[in-house]
Amino acid sequence: MLKGRKIVLGVTGGIAAYKAAELVRELVRAGAEVFVVMTRNAQAFITPLTFQTLSGHSVTTELFSLTEESEIGHIALADRAELLAIAPATANIIGKIAAGIADDILTTIVMATKAPVLLAPAMNVHMWENPICQENIQKLRSRGFHFIDPEAGELACGYEGKGRLAEIPAIVEEIRSILSPKDLSGETLLVTAGPTEEPIDPVRFLSNRSSGKMGFAVARAARRRGAQVILVSGPSALPAPSGVKFIPVRTASEMREAVLGSLPGVSTLVMAAAVSDYRPKGTSPEKIKKSRAELSLPLELNPDILHEAGQRKEKRLLIGFAAETESLLANARKKLAEKNLDLIVANDVRLPGAGFQVDTNVAKLIDRSGKVEELPLMSKEDLADCVLDRVLLLRSA
Ligand code: PMT
Repeated sequence: MLKGRKIVLGVTGGIAAYKAAELVRELVRAGAEVFVVMTRNAQAFITPLTFQTLSGHSVTTELFSLTEESEIGHIALADRAELLAIAPATANIIGKIAAGIADDILTTIVMATKAPVLLAPAMNVHMWENPICQENIQKLRSRGFHFIDPEAGELACGYEGKGRLAEIPAIVEEIRSILSPKDLSGETLLVTAGPTEEPIDPVRFLSNRSSGKMGFAVARAARRRGAQVILVSGPSALPAPSGVKFIPVRTASEMREAVLGSLPGVSTLVMAAAVSDYRPKGTSPEKIKKSRAELSLPLELNPDILHEAGQRKEKRLLIGFAAETESLLANARKKLAEKNLDLIVANDVRLPGAGFQVDTNVAKLIDRSGKVEELPLMSKEDLADCVLDRVLLLRSA
């Protein structure tokens, strides 16, 4: 989604300026072209060379530089930007933009650009809370500037409070969101993610290797594209995506309750969760003690959530995933038919770079007509967008 997108990143003078280096790395890793512009104060905290090395482009620092003006020019840079992000954004730059001041390279680009502008403030808590700063932010918000608020915590100046630069993945997510078409507005997607845990006793459970990455990627992509999103997830180390209704669950039964309970208002269900097919028959109230004898654990079937959703399908689109280690297409087709699905995303979890825990996947999309689309190895973010493109196609069919 960020591949080839042109992002101008303004860096201003605050201690969080060093974190902008990580932001450049993440954007470049996602395929974006990043052009860094630094204020004079920013250069007191970090050198242009760092950003030049990470971005692969020269860094702009001067408004009237002969070489920079002939090669790029501040107007050319303002025109080239598909998005202008300022991270960190100090109280000073926010005040200058709000007052319409354009007296250096960065403020001039802000004034000249037609691209959306995202500001990620970072400053001392008292500066953040200062009514002048808050009024400036309000003014800019009302003029269509985007903000990602700072986080609360320990600040470099020794204070505790709001003022820390938002986490880099959250800033990247906001950039993706601003650049995404809102082609799913009007859809309410319920996405499931992660494993389920079926308790054996108070300290042990049956589960699988799902990390939640695939389902979380679908939830984030859908939210970026303007859908209302409910994410029901089994235990996962991933942070709840912002702007999404997040329902954490543990067992398959809890997931069933959350999914079926939310279903009436849902237009599309995407089940990427790896739900345990079985659970221990009865949970021991105490930790099971070791003995010399063999131990067998009787299991009983869990509810099949997607199958139940297929029984009450109505106009809803149902999309399942199939994690297979053999006969990928045959097994996936069987699940598509038995669960009454519109689409199934079949992944052979033995392939390198596919399936559980990794950031990438290799999938085949199979629809009700039996048509198969083979997708190459791609990031789970990109696969999420391919699946959501299919939602649009299925809607228009
Ligand atoms: O979370 P990650 O680490 O990113 O890994 C991603 C993934 C491998 C988990 C994901 O890509 C994936 O394949 N998810 C589905 C895994 C799975 O449980 O497949 P299945 O073939 O057993 O189930 C078929 C479908 O029925 C799935 O949509 C599943 O959510 C659903 N199901 C299964 C069992 C059950 N009792 N109830 C269900 O609703």
